[in-house]
Amino acid sequence: MSANPSARLIVGNWKMNGGLGLLDVLAAELAGGGWTGRAVVCPPATLLGEAHRRLAPLGVEVGGQDCHVAERGAHTGDLSAALLAATGARHVIVGHSERRAAYGEADLQVRDKTLAAVEAGLSPIVCVGDTAEDRASGRAVEVVTRQVGAVLDGALNGRPWVLAYEPVWAIGSGRAATADDIAEMHAALRAVVGGATPILYGGSVTADNAGEIRACPEVGGLLIGGASLRPDQFAAILRGC
Ligand code: PGA
Repeated sequence: MSANPSARLIVGNWKMNGGLGLLDVLAAELAGGGWTGRAVVCPPATLLGEAHRRLAPLGVEVGGQDCHVAERGAHTGDLSAALLAATGARHVIVGHSERRAAYGEADLQVRDKTLAAVEAGLSPIVCVGDTAEDRASGRAVEVVTRQVGAVLDGALNGRPWVLAYEPVWAIGSGRAATADDIAEMHAALRAVVGGATPILYGGSVTADNAGEIRACPEVGGLLIGGASLRPDQFAAILRGC
């Protein structure tokens, strides 16, 4: 692992999967080290504390999958960024397309969650992505840059954050974006966010295609769903980066 903030960031998003057994297998798989990027695992929130205890000694950071916009209060069932940080988490995914679709999270809410995360000292991983319809109508770049613009309007004031381009049609479909599509979108995003923010790619990344994707210009790392539930695959991707 590397403390270099510009090192490639490899993030596993377990979504609503996994348990202590998977943590055990992952910790055993990663025990040998052998990677130079930054590794982050985002398990379900109930596992965050235990994941931090087991993975921090291996140089692996943990993160949440969502946070509330408020710092505290009467929000039954929700988790603030501060509560995530108290488990040892250093990151939180916000604006994942599954949350945008299932809970109607709109750009301004994603912006507020991003700000809540940085206020709590977490590094937000802000997800943006086009749908198949956006792409078919030639509006993919416009939609995605609008999503990012909403977050930038929120006065991040130079605090560290991470952007993740995840085409909705590529998530869980087994059909990753092509290198050309990734290069085009990442160039457009770089023009919007400027120099320092890492831009990850996510959507059907596997040990087989990770090498080609991470070689695309402006790809600063990977956000991995399904393959992160296979510790051998996650470790292979990490060691290949
Ligand atoms: P996937 O998910 O790798 O299973 O496509 C990526 C994500 O949703 O972050």
